[in-house]
Amino acid sequence: MALSAHRGEILHFLRDPVEHGESAIQHLKDGVLVIDEGRVVQCGDAAKLLPHLPDDARLSHHTNGLIVPGFIDTHVHFPQVEVMGAYGTQLLDWLETHTFPAERKFADRQYADEVAQFFLDQLLKNGTTTALVFGTVHPQSVDAFFTAAEQKNLRMICGKVMMDRNAPEYLRDSPEQSYYESRELIERWHKKDRLRYAVTPRFAPTSSEEQLQKASDLLKAYPDVHFHTHLAENKEECEWVASLFPDDRSYLSVYDRFKLLGRRSVFAHSIYLDKQDWARIGQCGAGVAHCPMSNLFIGSGLFDLQAARSSNVHIGLGTDIGGGDSFSILRTINEAYKIQQLRGENLSPFESLYHATLGGAKTLDLEGAIGNFEEGREADFVVLDYAATPLIDFRIQHCQSLMERLFVMQMLGDDRAIRHTYILGERY
Ligand code: GUN
Ligand code: ZN
Repeated sequence: MALSAHRGEILHFLRDPVEHGESAIQHLKDGVLVIDEGRVVQCGDAAKLLPHLPDDARLSHHTNGLIVPGFIDTHVHFPQVEVMGAYGTQLLDWLETHTFPAERKFADRQYADEVAQFFLDQLLKNGTTTALVFGTVHPQSVDAFFTAAEQKNLRMICGKVMMDRNAPEYLRDSPEQSYYESRELIERWHKKDRLRYAVTPRFAPTSSEEQLQKASDLLKAYPDVHFHTHLAENKEECEWVASLFPDDRSYLSVYDRFKLLGRRSVFAHSIYLDKQDWARIGQCGAGVAHCPMSNLFIGSGLFDLQAARSSNVHIGLGTDIGGGDSFSILRTINEAYKIQQLRGENLSPFESLYHATLGGAKTLDLEGAIGNFEEGREADFVVLDYAATPLIDFRIQHCQSLMERLFVMQMLGDDRAIRHTYILGERY
C-alpha cells in the first residue's frame, strides 16, 4: 500500500516536558507525518519532507487544526456507560445503588456486545485510541470488549473483575473461579493483535486474601500481563480497608503484601496516600490513573499531582466512566486543571497533554508502541479542530502562542473539537 502523509500543525512529546523543558516538545507549525503500513516513518517539517514523498503517496492537508497523538485513557469501566451522570451519591453508596445493578446485565453476552461497540465508538469520537478498561465479573464481558476492539484494530487493555466478597451474590466469583476465568481470558486474548490483558481485582474490600493471592499467582504465571485496580479513592473506603486489613500499614501495603506492585501495575485514583506509599509506587515503577472528573463527580477528593511527580510515579489520565461524566480527555484535562487550581498548584497545557499521550503510554508500559510520533510508533492520532465551535474559533483567533491555543482547546474543547481520529493511519 502507498505511503500516507498528513500535513498540518503537529505537536507531540519526546520526553516528559516537566523534567526536560522545551527539548521534550516537538512542535511543527507546518509539519508532515508520514505513515507506512500503519506506522510512523517520519515526522518533520513540510518544506523538508514533502519534496521527497513518492508521487503515489496519499496526502491529506489538515488546515486550521492541530495533529496530536491519540489520547490514552488509563482508567475506565466499559460496563458503566449507563450509570454516567447518576444523581446524588458518593463511592460506596454509588456502587450499591447504581453500579452493581448495571454490571449485572453483562451476564448477557449480547448486551455486552452492544455496549462494547457503543463504548468504543464514543472513545474514538472523543479522540481516545487506547484505554485500560474494567470489564465486569463475567468473562463474557471481556470477550465482548476484546472482540469489538479487535475488529477495529485498536490497542486496548482489559480484564475481568475479580470480586468474591462484599458485593451482591449475583456479582461474586470465588478465588478459584476468578483464577481460571482470568487464565482462560489471558490465553485467549493477551498479545492477540494489539490487545493486552490486565489482572483486575476490583479493589481490596471486594477481594478476600485468598483471591488477592490468586491475582498474585496470575502475575507470576504470566509476567507480562498488566495489573489494574482502585486505590485510596474515598475516605470511607480507606477506613473500610483499614478495618478489613488491620495488620497492614496502609491501603497500598495490602496490595504490596501480595506482590501486586510492578512496572505494569496501575492504581486508579490514589488520592489518600502518604509519603511512604508514594515512594513505594515510584520505586516499583508502577503508575497511577488521575481521574479528576470522577473525583469531583462522586466527591472523592483532590489528587496530589505534586506528590506523584516528585516520587517519579508514572501518571496517566482516566475518565473513570461511569464515575466520570464524560468520555472526553479534553474535559478530563479541564477538570485536572481546576483541581490543581484548588490546591494552589499549576498544571501547564503541555504537562496535561503529555499525561494524556506519552505519559499515559508510559503508565501502561506501552511507550515503545504508542504515545508519540517517533519512527516506528503505531500511527494512532487525532486532528483537533481550531474552529470546532463558534466560541473556540473566536477564542483561538485571539491567541498569540501555541501554549495559549492548546490551553483553549483543553478548556473549551470536547468531542466537537476532535475533527478526525486515525487508527494505524486509517481514518475512523
Ligand atoms: N472502587 C471500586 N469499584 C469502583 C468503581 O466501579 N468505580 C470507582 N470509581 N471506584 C471504584
Ligand atoms: Zn474506576
